[in-house]
Amino acid sequence: MYVLGIETSCDETSASIVKDGREVLSNIVSSSLGFYKRYGGIIPEIASRMQIETINAVSESALKEAKLRLRDIGLISVTCGPGLLGSLLVGISFAKALSLSLKLPLLGINHLYSHIYSSFLNKKNIDLPFIGLVVSGGHTSLFYVKDFDKIKLLGSTLDDACGEAFDKVAKILGLGYPGGPIIERLAKKGNPHKIKFSCSNTKNPLDFSFSGIKTAVLYYIQRRTLKDKNEVADIAASFQQAVIEVLVKKSLLACRLKRLKRLVIGGGVVMNNRLRERFSEIAEKEGIKVLFPDKEFCTDNAAMVAGLGYYLFKKGKVSDLYLTADLG
Ligand code: KG4
Ligand code: ZN
Repeated sequence: MYVLGIETSCDETSASIVKDGREVLSNIVSSSLGFYKRYGGIIPEIASRMQIETINAVSESALKEAKLRLRDIGLISVTCGPGLLGSLLVGISFAKALSLSLKLPLLGINHLYSHIYSSFLNKKNIDLPFIGLVVSGGHTSLFYVKDFDKIKLLGSTLDDACGEAFDKVAKILGLGYPGGPIIERLAKKGNPHKIKFSCSNTKNPLDFSFSGIKTAVLYYIQRRTLKDKNEVADIAASFQQAVIEVLVKKSLLACRLKRLKRLVIGGGVVMNNRLRERFSEIAEKEGIKVLFPDKEFCTDNAAMVAGLGYYLFKKGKVSDLYLTADLG
């Protein structure tokens, strides 16, 4: 079955065709991120207006690249939340219109769960249960995934999301937006052990907190005049190291508590190569199998929405035309 996935939860407009939940035939992502560089962050009202203008063309490109027509599609799968309200409504309205006019089933998909599913795109098996970690610009959460319709939240961030912390630290250091890739690039030239940054403790050991470390970076640079680029690289490397260590520590704790040896990680921050290396090193040491998405499926994309849509549809899930944004 061919599924058309639609994803408009944040600034991206994405459409994808996935066959039988795994084989990605097309995955078109139109991002307005470049536009926001001058503002240092997304402006929701502008994002949703741009999405209205592009969603038709993006969907047509997805069909064209997959060499399919609308009549070949068996299901419309769309992100229904969490995300930006206006942006979500663009995707949902578009998906509902297609579903109604073509008499196709419709399914609303949770954005975080689709990030977890992204690790299984273009792969063979889905081994359940596992611990799922989502590290994105809007969320940082640990889940117990018994199955994709039986997901239990174990912990999440109490303040900033992990990617948001990367973005804010980059802003504090005057490096630009989005911060994740810039910090990663700079961190390669720095000493990760130079400055002792750490993330705040949380009452629930599986929750996260990243706003303290962001403020620690701010105070650190306020206390001194940075002399050269090496110092900024040391700050970037030390910050990145502290964040990755806390992600690793809590994910392993979740695996231990749930007696699971499988860990699946998704979200934009998984673009980070140091994070991938560190998780792989530790997982091997602990005998845990860790799974990451291919790089093209880390940041927001519709392939993960189409993939999870197929999986849940096969389990009997379907939405009706009352589907609306769920900000969760
Ligand atoms: O999953 P995503 O595309 O959007 C949300 O659902 O939030 O994640 C975007 C986030 C941004 O905060 C961005 O800075 C971060 O992912 N990111 C990275 C890297 N590439 C993107 N963070 C760390 N290292 C990277 N290489
Ligand atoms: Zn996302």
